[in-house]
Amino acid sequence: MRRAVARCFVTRDLPGPALGRLRERHEVDVWPERLPPPYEELRARSADAEGLLSLLTDRVDAALIEGSPRLRAIANYAVGYDNIDLVAAAARGIPVGNTPDVLTDATADLAFTLLLAAARRLPDALLAVQSDDWVTWEPGAFLGHDAFGATLGIIGMGRIGRAVARRAAGFDMTVLHTGSDGGVPLLTLLKRSDFVSLHTPLTPETHHLIDAAALDAMKPTAILINTARGPIVDQAALIEALRQGEIAGAALDVTDPEPPPPDDPLLSAPNLIVAPHIGSATHTAREAMATRAVDNLLAALDGEPMPHPVQTS
Ligand code: DGY
Repeated sequence: MRRAVARCFVTRDLPGPALGRLRERHEVDVWPERLPPPYEELRARSADAEGLLSLLTDRVDAALIEGSPRLRAIANYAVGYDNIDLVAAAARGIPVGNTPDVLTDATADLAFTLLLAAARRLPDALLAVQSDDWVTWEPGAFLGHDAFGATLGIIGMGRIGRAVARRAAGFDMTVLHTGSDGGVPLLTLLKRSDFVSLHTPLTPETHHLIDAAALDAMKPTAILINTARGPIVDQAALIEALRQGEIAGAALDVTDPEPPPPDDPLLSAPNLIVAPHIGSATHTAREAMATRAVDNLLAALDGEPMPHPVQTS
């Protein structure tokens, strides 16, 4: 029996062969630009779609879902799904899928890369070489902080948090976390950690979890790493904490908004590294994410359960 062809909107081209499998079965409209479709365009192109493959940069809200009467599957090309109104999707019985596991190690690697780069002031040191300021070996130049043997606080001990903890074991670090399984209270973690790494999803509860009070509780020698979502950190409070030397540094792979406008004071804050949301940016991870997103869409359009449905609890 020949299965029905569905109209799908894919909001960006994806690495690897996965989109080819979707094209073999369905009518696929891929947004061709480098920048995401503007919100009104996203709504217009989703209006008669049955399948939507969205990115974390696409706001899939109640109005979009309401305005897309034929929509019956949403596959997000990310493990995070804070860009999607799950309540509105559930009210219409539309399954939502994500791409867990396949980006865990890539993201944990990046968290550790940022941790080490911030601890050892790598950007400052590289800049000195590039700007002809490496004049000699200096006993007091570019002194950083030891990662080996330090205490690492992990906020959000899920898949990626646990992968970061495994890397920390190789550095003889003491790992604290806030989870229910042997975790410590947030305040204890903040006070005791030399590095604090964020791995929690963005929810109303975690929005601005790291605020002025949290930053104030951290050691003046501590470094904050965020590879989760920008709004988990109150950015204005972070800028102030860095300016006042309340913490020693921060390394962010995620900001609020993304990207920050060129005149955002974040970009001139001292002792700060900002990366352009590249946690999952390896060939393997991004191609595997595409495979998962396409598998989710194909299954749901065939009326089958998504292999990777969003798990909210
Ligand atoms: C995600 O998947 O949620 C990351 O932020 C991007 O890979």
